[in-house]
Amino acid sequence: MTQKTVRFGVLGTGRITRRLIADLQSTDGVEVNAVASREMSRARWCADQHGIPVAIEGYENLLKREDVDAVYVALPPALHHTVALSTAENQKDLLCEKPLTVNLAQTEEIDKAFSKNRWLDATGWLHHPRTKAFSSWLNKGSLGTITHLSAALSFHQPFVSDDHRLSVELGGGCLLDLGWYVFGFTRFFCGKNPNAIYADAIHECGVSQRVNAMLWFDDQITATVSCGYDTATRKWFEVAGSAASLICDDFTRPWHDRPTRCWIHEASGQVQSHTFEGNQERKMIETFIREQSLERFQRQAIDTARIIHAATKSIELGRKVSFTELDK
Ligand SMILES: NC(=O)c1ccc[n+]([C@@H]2O[C@H](COP(=O)([O-])OP(=O)(O)OC[C@H]3O[C@@H](n4cnc5c(N)ncnc54)[C@H](OP(=O)(O)O)[C@@H]3O)[C@@H](O)[C@H]2O)c1
Repeated sequence: MTQKTVRFGVLGTGRITRRLIADLQSTDGVEVNAVASREMSRARWCADQHGIPVAIEGYENLLKREDVDAVYVALPPALHHTVALSTAENQKDLLCEKPLTVNLAQTEEIDKAFSKNRWLDATGWLHHPRTKAFSSWLNKGSLGTITHLSAALSFHQPFVSDDHRLSVELGGGCLLDLGWYVFGFTRFFCGKNPNAIYADAIHECGVSQRVNAMLWFDDQITATVSCGYDTATRKWFEVAGSAASLICDDFTRPWHDRPTRCWIHEASGQVQSHTFEGNQERKMIETFIREQSLERFQRQAIDTARIIHAATKSIELGRKVSFTELDK
């Protein structure tokens, strides 16, 4: 049986878009038909660079096209919600960059709007074959009883002065940008949300520059996470259990100049080293176009938005907050 080609349109011409277009174009069953920008000249430039047949001025004009089945959105976070709702209205599938939106209500609204079409947040690490191995070790109980999770993600001042990460209006700040990964990591390994969180943030120019948090889950599992724009590059996690710890030093995206790897440190002192093949972005695109149900990824995204919501409340109130009090 020949599989149907999915015709993509791309919204925005920024840094991550230009990287992901190559992954879309090198995935079987995908064509990139059109790219839209706020400005025609940028759309034309991007289309010419990547051999995309149609350049369009204005995101809405792309969303209305008949020759587009799915869109990839890599705009500043504050624009995701409006564009996502319009994508659903125009009956197209949505692959949208993280953070999916700037708050929990917007995330839930998107989920509701996509009753006929599909949506997936572009959180690449969840699709890497290495992550399948994480799940399999977890399900087999290879680490014993899980007790504590920790993760850190940071980049030292990774932007130019007008970067959307520094703009309150555009959804900037490390809580959304990097918190998406570290809080998502805790939700992924616990399979559900925590019961309580205490988060603290250092702000600059109105947006969070560093966030540290402690989380409490069922079964006495705890987690500590840290993310920020004021520390050198870190992207590691540790999942500690009674029998062993799983350690990964590049979970959000493998270092480009070394094998994709992780380690299991056993209680005996033995260290198992594991390496993996595979491009997480192409795997993510394959999941998006081929997997029958995206529900487990959507659940992960909505729960991640819920943890960020709780962290935001905790930072505002300056105290530990329980998830039950947020639901009232
Ligand atoms: N998955 C990952 O590994 C990863 C990595 C980096 C970023 N991201 C996410 O991808 C999204 C975009 O990030 P990026 O680093 O690619 O950003 P970027 O380089 O600044 O590009 C954003 C694009 O959005 C469009 N845009 C529309 N309104 C804008 C405004 N008011 N200000 C600035 N740009 C505006 C622009 O395209 P036009 O002018 O052509 O319309 C711009 O090129 C964010 O949600 C970010 O968190 C994901």
